[in-house]
Amino acid sequence: MSADIPPTMKAWTYSRAGPHRQVLSLNTIPSLKPPTGDQVLVKVAYSGLNYGDLKSMKMIPSIFRAKNSVPAMDWSGTILAVGPSAPPSLVVGMKVFGVLAMEAIFTGQGTLREYMCISTKKHMVAPVPDNCTMEEAGCIAIAATMAHLICKHAGIKEDCGLRILVNGASGGCGSGFIQAAVAMGAKEVIAICSAPNFELVQSLGATRAIDYRDKKPLHGYLAKEFGDRKIDVVVDTMGAQDLYTNSPKYLKEDGVFVNIGDYTSGTLLTAFYWLLNLFWPRWLGGTPRKFVMFGPDFGPDTVQWVQRMVGGGKMKAVIDRSVGFDQVLEVSTRREL
Ligand SMILES: NC(=O)c1ccc[n+]([C@@H]2O[C@H](COP(=O)([O-])OP(=O)(O)OC[C@H]3O[C@@H](n4cnc5c(N)ncnc54)[C@H](OP(=O)(O)O)[C@@H]3O)[C@@H](O)[C@H]2O)c1
Repeated sequence: MSADIPPTMKAWTYSRAGPHRQVLSLNTIPSLKPPTGDQVLVKVAYSGLNYGDLKSMKMIPSIFRAKNSVPAMDWSGTILAVGPSAPPSLVVGMKVFGVLAMEAIFTGQGTLREYMCISTKKHMVAPVPDNCTMEEAGCIAIAATMAHLICKHAGIKEDCGLRILVNGASGGCGSGFIQAAVAMGAKEVIAICSAPNFELVQSLGATRAIDYRDKKPLHGYLAKEFGDRKIDVVVDTMGAQDLYTNSPKYLKEDGVFVNIGDYTSGTLLTAFYWLLNLFWPRWLGGTPRKFVMFGPDFGPDTVQWVQRMVGGGKMKAVIDRSVGFDQVLEVSTRREL
């Protein structure tokens, strides 16, 4: 089925690496051809611009990316046309949401534009649940996807009864994961964030909140607090290497340390610590705790889980700020890029 597509559309694009306020501009670009194969053509309603989008815009050199790249991965919108082999459950007029696969960063085919034509096999495209507004749906998919991947990689199953600690708990991924941990039956969810966000994390289900600005060094405080009743799983959305190297003092011997954050000291160090933490043998001084780090690689099981959690009201979007399409340069991050 086809739709009337205007010859051009508005999109936020960038062609060199840098802070979004310096490199992003609002442009008119050619519109898309009608969908082919498993693609759907979507009129974008909301696009979620996350810390990771702004970070990759700043860090990834332009030679690795298409010219006039469009940023952002989260989205919600309405299907205007479907390709001949798109899933029959996706129909014209349906309100849908999802997250693009990682390749969108490099092809420059992000969601901050009026229309997009995307493969339903490569990218997540799911009906917006009845209990969710388009605004909420437009910024929930990455957080929910990451929450499922964390559960999978850390072995967190339903009715887990675990004691879980989340660092960077008030951010997009942290707030999504707190809700997932509660839904998976965690016995305790300890949230680390700044004091002004205690109310937020507790409203999402955290049983205790700790201010990282007040307890320095944080790992020393955690050792004192949890040394005699150690934690089962640590989820670090910040990339705090010292939390991992000191984790034996507060994380159980068979516990898991999951890092999804980029090390604050930069992309190269992130890759270095990732390899170091995975391969430095314990008998040569490596940290004697399981370390897990992964990319946002999701399959149908994750899509179904996300639909179940969001549709079942167990996971809600935490929206920092909503701005009009013309006001994207006003957005900012909660932590330094
Ligand atoms: N591996 C993957 O596939 C994947 C996918 C998505 C995202 N990510 C990564 O996950 C990380 C988190 O992303 P996000 O979107 O959740 O970020 P975000 O929404 O910007 O949240 C960051 C949070 O970190 C907190 N924070 C700042 N400094 C802190 C510190 N020193 N200690 C503890 N918390 C601190 C802030 O809390 P307060 O305001 O309370 O201070 C803020 O809420 C990023 O590095 C992103 O690149 C990875």
